[in-house]
Amino acid sequence: MNLPGTSVSVWLDTTEGTKYPQLTSDISVDVAIVGGGITGLTAALLLKQAGLRVAVIEASQIGSGVTGYTTAHLTEAADERYKDLISSLGDTDAKLVAESSRAAIERIAKFVAEEKIDCDFQRVPGYLYTEKSQDVSEIESEAEAASKLVIPAALTKDVPLPFPVKAAVMFPNQAQFNPIPYLQGLAKAIDGGGSFIFEQSSVVDITGDKPSRVSTEQGTVTALDVIIATHTPIHNLNSLPDLYVMSTKIAPYRSYVIGVRLRSPLPEGLFWDTEEPYHYTRSYKDLLIVGGEDHKTGEDVDNQACFERLEAYVRDRFDVQSIDYRWSAQLYEPVDGLPYIGTTAANSNIYVATGYSGNGMTFGTVGGMLTSDLILGRTNPWSELYDPNRANIIASAQRFVTENLGVAKHFVVDRLFKSEGNEPSDVPPGEGKILDIDGKKYAVYRDETDYLCSLSPVCTHAGCIVDWNNAEKTWDCPCHGGRFSPTGEVLNGPPITDLDQKELPSQFTTKS
Ligand code: FES
Repeated sequence: MNLPGTSVSVWLDTTEGTKYPQLTSDISVDVAIVGGGITGLTAALLLKQAGLRVAVIEASQIGSGVTGYTTAHLTEAADERYKDLISSLGDTDAKLVAESSRAAIERIAKFVAEEKIDCDFQRVPGYLYTEKSQDVSEIESEAEAASKLVIPAALTKDVPLPFPVKAAVMFPNQAQFNPIPYLQGLAKAIDGGGSFIFEQSSVVDITGDKPSRVSTEQGTVTALDVIIATHTPIHNLNSLPDLYVMSTKIAPYRSYVIGVRLRSPLPEGLFWDTEEPYHYTRSYKDLLIVGGEDHKTGEDVDNQACFERLEAYVRDRFDVQSIDYRWSAQLYEPVDGLPYIGTTAANSNIYVATGYSGNGMTFGTVGGMLTSDLILGRTNPWSELYDPNRANIIASAQRFVTENLGVAKHFVVDRLFKSEGNEPSDVPPGEGKILDIDGKKYAVYRDETDYLCSLSPVCTHAGCIVDWNNAEKTWDCPCHGGRFSPTGEVLNGPPITDLDQKELPSQFTTKS
């Protein structure tokens, strides 16, 4: 069926892309940064301002990765509720989470002012609200927790939404922006003076020695320190085996977004409800942007139905004129609720920043601030809190076991039993399916012109079987969130290598 709206984020659709050169030779810098999203560019600019030479290596274009698909809420109201953070971490560390989020909002505001970036940065209030009487106590507990941590927040029923709300916590002085011109403004300030931005440069290997070598097919950047800022750290298990451990501490989820034109005025602010998964709402120019319907990546889910449920949610509550955009994004849930930012256990010069939950813009900025401080040898009050090697066993054990049992199940069961057909004619145009032909598995995609692409369904990260995403037209890996195009090119890490081509048995190699 046809879904309403154009399948692209409003940010990428309305901003002209950048054109930085490809890496085509070997160079040396102080710090190599893999990924041109909010984490990488924040770190790169801070390092350059401190006098280091940096090279940002982006597989596609600035902001075209996960940052291009955010809804860009800048908030200190973390996904992990403060009442839960107080109970798992204690008051002091929970307060550090709030302080780092606030510092990120102010860091963005400062860059916008310093670099004169026209990105529609705007201070707005944020509302955590509920429509349900039974959730009012949850709202009250969160207001109490915020007050205990001296976060300015207040209980209210006065929420500027056009439907009844039972209770809310209002967080003043949050913010929103358009992430793409913001990143382009940072990139412009980074490039030049011995520092570089490279685009269309897919990294194929990162070595763990010192200096490290970050290689693409056309060139290599040698650097004392490397920040892998690719949302989840991309890696070859041969070169950086300990990064596999990072993959086990974060679970990939997909979230769905629609951009809607209303017949009525747009509400001003950021809004998050108490549903599970929760809905998140903001406005941008003449559009209402609403997200939700999160689920584990690669699970056996009808991705189109997620958009349909989100549309129904919005139509129930707003006077919808048209649905103009739809897109989905990947997020990573850390097992103990906090991002992982810092060096890995085995390599003191390889930095990662991941596990931002639904707070990608604020924690992404925290990631850039903290990794740059660590490289510069500056003391940072958040370094222990977000240390990738921390052991918060009590908070994380149950989630760790649950998520990784799911990975083990996919690894074993999918390899043996996953099958959605036995011959290419089972795959309709524009779709992909895992076929079992004579006991062998194939990931087969048929395009609208009837061209068949046959791939190995074995994910090149750690060997799980990929799954077809019928809304985004991608192969998604259920184990650690790797994503591939219909013809097998890597779209999202942790895999660094494309899916292998796998020829169909000879009886099917003529057009079917
Ligand atoms: Fe790890 Fe696919 S992403 S096995």
